[in-house]
Amino acid sequence: MADSKLAIVVLAAGQGTRMKSSTPKLLHKLAGVTVVSHVLATARSLEAAHVVAVVRHERDRLVEVIEVDLPEAVIVDQDDVPGTGRAVELALQAIPSGFAGEVLVLNGDVPLLDADTLTVMINRHRSGDAVATLMTTSLDDPSGYGRIVRGADGALEAIVEHQDADATVLAIAEVNAGIYLFSVAALRDSVSQLTTDNSQSEKYITDVVAILRASGSDVAAHEIAHAWKVEGINDRAQLATAAARLNALIVRGWQLEGVTVIDPATTWIDLQVQLAPDVEVRPGTQLLGATVVATGAVIGPETTLVDCEVGAGATVKRTDATLAVIGTNASVGPFSYLRPGTYLGDDGKIGTFVETKNARIGVGSKVPHLSYVGDATIGEASNIGAGTIFANYDGVTKNSTNIGSHVRSGSHNVFVAPVSIGDGAYTGAGAVIRKDVPAGSMALSVAPQRNMDGWVEKNRPGSPAADAAADKAADA
Ligand code: UD1
Ligand code: CA
Repeated sequence: MADSKLAIVVLAAGQGTRMKSSTPKLLHKLAGVTVVSHVLATARSLEAAHVVAVVRHERDRLVEVIEVDLPEAVIVDQDDVPGTGRAVELALQAIPSGFAGEVLVLNGDVPLLDADTLTVMINRHRSGDAVATLMTTSLDDPSGYGRIVRGADGALEAIVEHQDADATVLAIAEVNAGIYLFSVAALRDSVSQLTTDNSQSEKYITDVVAILRASGSDVAAHEIAHAWKVEGINDRAQLATAAARLNALIVRGWQLEGVTVIDPATTWIDLQVQLAPDVEVRPGTQLLGATVVATGAVIGPETTLVDCEVGAGATVKRTDATLAVIGTNASVGPFSYLRPGTYLGDDGKIGTFVETKNARIGVGSKVPHLSYVGDATIGEASNIGAGTIFANYDGVTKNSTNIGSHVRSGSHNVFVAPVSIGDGAYTGAGAVIRKDVPAGSMALSVAPQRNMDGWVEKNRPGSPAADAAADKAADA
C-alpha cells in the first residue's frame, strides 16, 4: 500500500569521476543490474507518494534506466550549481507544496541498502522528535566519507566532508551513509541556506545537519552495524567489493533454496537468474542475465551461461553459451560454444569442440565432436558425424541447412547451404554436400580411392618408409 507520508529523492546527477569511465558511474553493473537500478528497485518497493530522481551527467542514459525501473519517478534536471545539496533543493520543487510528510534522500551510488533496513529507520524517525534522521555506520577505513561529528553529550553536531576535515575529524570512524530522512518543512527551510563555501565549491546536503542543529532542532543518527549495506560505489575497487558481497548473498540465498553450489567463491550468479531446487552448480561457473535452470540440471565446472534456459536433468560442462535453450536431459560440453539462437532438444547432445549458432537441434539428435552448426535445423534422432561444418556463408549471404530426422551423416562432411537432407538419409565420410539428398539415400561425393602399388619405393627410395615396405615384402 502506498505510503502517503513518504516522498523519495534519488540523487543520480553526479559525474562519478573516480570511476574513470565512459560509462556513467551509476550505470556500471553488479549482479547484472546497474548500480542505480538497485537503488531504484529499493525506492520502488517503499511505495512512496512522490518519487523524484535528479539527473545531470549523461542524463539521457540515466533517464532511460529510470523510466524502466521506476516509471513513477519525476525527473528533475540539476543545473550548473554542483553538489548533493543543490540536487535536493531542486528535487523539492517537484514535490507538491501540500505534501506534509518526510523526504527520504537516497544516494544513487549506494546499491546494497535494502528496503527493510530503510523501513526500520523510517519507523524510528516517525516515533521520535528529530526533524531529520541520517543513517551512519563505522568503517575501518572511513576515507572519502563524510564524518559524523558528535558533541560531548553524544548528540549529532555536524557532518564534515573528508575534503574539508582536519586530522581530528579524519580520525572519526563513524561516517555518513548518504541516506537521510527529513521532515519536509525542515528540509525546505534549511536547503535554502546552503552555500558553496567549502573546498569543493559545492552545495552539500550534509551541511543541513549543522544548519538544523544551529536552529535548535534535533537531528538523529541511525547507526547500522552492517557497514557493507551502505558502502558507496565511487571507484572500480569499491564496485568489485560490493559485487562480491552481493554475489555471496545471492549464492547463499540459492543454497538455502535447495541449490548445490560446490564453490561459492568461484560461482557468480546474477540477480535475475532463476534456479530450481536440486540444481547443482560446479566450480568456476557464471550464471548471468535472465538464465533459468530447471531441477536436477548440473552446470559446470567452468561454464558461463548468459540468458540461457536449461531443462531438467541436463548437464552443461565447460561451456560458454548465450541466448541458448537446452532441453530436458540434454548434454552439452565439455568445451562447447553455444551462440544465440541455439535450441537443443530434449535428450540431445552438443559435444566437445562444437560451436552452434541459430541452430535448432531436435529431440535426441547429437552433434558430438568438433563441428560448426550455423543457420540450421536438424530433426529428431539424427547424428552428425565428427568434424562436420555447416558452411552457411557464401561470402555474400547466409543460407540455411535442413537436416531431417534419423539422418546419419559421415565424419568430416561439409554441408554447403542452402541444402537439405531428407529423413533417414546417410552421407559418406568426407562428403561435401552441395545438392539436396532425398530421404533414405546415401550421398557420396568423394572420388573412389586409388592405390598406386610401389609408389613409395619408386618415389622415396632409401627412406625409412621404403625400407619398412621392403621388409614387409620380404616377410611375405
Ligand atoms: C556523499 C556525502 C558523504 C557521504 C557519502 C556516502 C555529500 C556532500 N557527501 O559523498 O558525506 O559519506 O556520500 O556515500 O553529500 N550527486 C548529485 N548531484 C551532484 C553531486 C552528486 O545528484 O551535484 C549524486 C551522485 O550521483 C551520487 C550521490 O549524489 O549518487 C553522492 O554523490 P558523490 O559525489 O558520490 O558523494 P560522495 O563524495 O561519495
Ligand atoms: Ca559516493
